[in-house]
Amino acid sequence: LRIIAIINQKGGCGKTTSAISLASIFAKRNFRTLLVDLDPQGHCAAGLAVPESRIDLDIGDAMMLPADRTMDVSRLLWRVARNLDLAPSRMKLAGLEAPKGGLMDADDKEYRLAAAIERINEVSGNPYDVCLIDCPPSIGLLTYNALAAAKEVIVPVETSYFSLQGASRQLATIRSLSRRMGSRVRTRLLPTLHDPSSTLARDLLEELKRLFPGCVIPQVIRYDVALKEATSFGQPIDDYAPDSPGALDYGALGEWLTQHASIDRQLEPDEFDSVTMGQLQTAIDDMIDSRRPTAIDLSTPAEVEPETLGAEPAPGAPPSRADEIYLRAQNMTRRA
Ligand SMILES: Nc1ncnc2c1ncn2[C@@H]1O[C@H](COP(=O)(O)OP(=O)(O)O)[C@@H](O)[C@H]1O
Ligand SMILES: [Mg+2]
Repeated sequence: LRIIAIINQKGGCGKTTSAISLASIFAKRNFRTLLVDLDPQGHCAAGLAVPESRIDLDIGDAMMLPADRTMDVSRLLWRVARNLDLAPSRMKLAGLEAPKGGLMDADDKEYRLAAAIERINEVSGNPYDVCLIDCPPSIGLLTYNALAAAKEVIVPVETSYFSLQGASRQLATIRSLSRRMGSRVRTRLLPTLHDPSSTLARDLLEELKRLFPGCVIPQVIRYDVALKEATSFGQPIDDYAPDSPGALDYGALGEWLTQHASIDRQLEPDEFDSVTMGQLQTAIDDMIDSRRPTAIDLSTPAEVEPETLGAEPAPGAPPSRADEIYLRAQNMTRRA
């Protein structure tokens, strides 16, 4: 399980957008994906159309569950798409890291999230390949927990003047915190909300690469209003507008990360969404074609026996390609 935390104490730099978009893209590429929302604002649930009023347990409850109690993941996790589960957050998570909120005085207060993710992974029966953690815009106990759990950190940085200053402070903080906790994380900067038509933004991007050599992810996320719209429709960008610049950039970022962040997948890579859907359509067309009554020569007695059309195949007969794909599609929708 590869755990990636998305951290920046600055709000509005694209943490949640990156978490949701990447989670959806990994899931579509057949990585079993867990999205953990660690921000009390609960934006991941909103961005994936999970109603806050129906959240039964949140990630804070999972973190505080005593070790001798069994975790009921059915009350915690939301299956938001095939291969994609959300462990949601809500406002009361803010209380958890406050003095007397529970976490401060807990044993292993910085390792509660790591333990919770491990337990979720065990109990869910079907281990995850990748876990993304969307962090709050602050450096407190919740973010320490994310740092302690993660092997990789992505710091989204808007390519604007003030964000650049914040970036070096952010990087220094993350490095000293993880050193103090004895964890070894790989920290990378992700340029976001980038406007390639602006000379200033382009210069700032170059400056970012110069200041942090080897730390800047080569795939930049452009400013794209479709990303804003997708959030308000409760859909990941690759569902809402698959051809938009935002979907293309996050798609390429997902690809880059699978190659550079050691994420392994247990399932076969499968392009169900595009390829199999296409095959399904072709198979249905073929099926209709094969059942279409052919021109009958009226000069000889009819040989077509209508009642055999659409009959069950003989027991033991191999399923046709169309049936196979149909069954698979049915399974997909049932699971999702
Ligand atoms: N690349 C982008 N282009 C346009 N709007 C974006 C982009 N990334 C994020 N946004 C929008 O900016 C706002 C803040 O993004 P968000 O991901 O919520 O940031 P954070 O989680 O860091 O606070 C949201 O309205 C979001 O839809
Ligand atoms: Mg956010």
